[in-house]
Amino acid sequence: MRVLITGITGFVGSHLAEFLLAQGDEVYGTYRVRSRMDHIQPILPKIHLVECELKDSVSVMQLVERIRPERIYHLAAQSFVPTSWNSPQDTMVNNIIAELNLFEAVRKQGLQDCRIQIACSSEEYGMVYPEETPILETNPLRPLSPYGVSKVAQDLLGYQYTQSYGLHIVRTRTFNHEGPRRGEAFVLSNFAKQVAEIEKGLKPPVLEVGNLDAIRDFTDVRDVVRAYTLALRHGIAGDVYNIGSGFTWRIGDALDELLKLTDVQIEVRQDPSRMRPSDVMILHCDASKFMKQTGWKPEVPFAKTLHDMLDYWRER
Ligand code: GDD
Repeated sequence: MRVLITGITGFVGSHLAEFLLAQGDEVYGTYRVRSRMDHIQPILPKIHLVECELKDSVSVMQLVERIRPERIYHLAAQSFVPTSWNSPQDTMVNNIIAELNLFEAVRKQGLQDCRIQIACSSEEYGMVYPEETPILETNPLRPLSPYGVSKVAQDLLGYQYTQSYGLHIVRTRTFNHEGPRRGEAFVLSNFAKQVAEIEKGLKPPVLEVGNLDAIRDFTDVRDVVRAYTLALRHGIAGDVYNIGSGFTWRIGDALDELLKLTDVQIEVRQDPSRMRPSDVMILHCDASKFMKQTGWKPEVPFAKTLHDMLDYWRER
């Protein structure tokens, strides 16, 4: 199978590329001049990298024309929620226009058999009331950040392009995912990095945190990439699926679990700059629709995710 991953150099992209290579797929991936290559260094000889600015429609048209992919995993995005408050326009353009360019290229090249997975997000649900949990796909979308709005647009564009043009697009609303290689800005990876730095004596034994009362449903990235491949194998075109473990953690409790993995004494301190203008308080996934459709089940325990993430930062 000829597969294209947008954002192959990133956290999820690199794990997905490894998974697809092990399946015997021919893997192509896009990168930008400023993309970091360390995550994909070990697999560089086995993949085909194509420089492409996804915001540029001509560039994307040439990309799709050249590769003529049979499967596309569209992962490239501005994915950090706080950045979307600082530069909302950049988030909208990166996330919405890039996807639009991709759909237009597939449509205009007439690749009707190409299956496309789009990485939508539980952030689309935003304001969720306690009686609405665990969250089903039918829950209202009430995004609380520009990032959440951009993902709603990506999600609905996926629906519209299937309905209007018959493209085979599967929309996955993934809840929080973590694991080795996770960017240092994201909560558990950030905490794990701070712990590793304190252990090495690179930082005083004070761990800075934001809102510890938010509740998140964490899934290991290795379970998430397996889910994405199943989404394209068994998912219905135009349909939307929640992906998440179904187990929630208060961020403060997840931090306590992480701190059990180190011998050093660490003081936890709130840093007001880590608080958000509006935070999504609870995201708890009901993935039963996806499980029924694809047979997917999360396999990696949360303790292993934390352990592997901490080891990742210790080794850097
Ligand atoms: N980043 C960060 N840093 N978050 C913190 C911190 C901190 O020091 N302290 C507490 N938090 C809280 C945040 O306020 C938020 O409630 C929660 O931890 C998770 O924050 P992030 O890891 O930044 O993730 P997110 O939930 O905002 O968004 C992630 O999940 C989405 C899926 O729901 C991202 O991966 C998105 O790209 C993804 O779509």
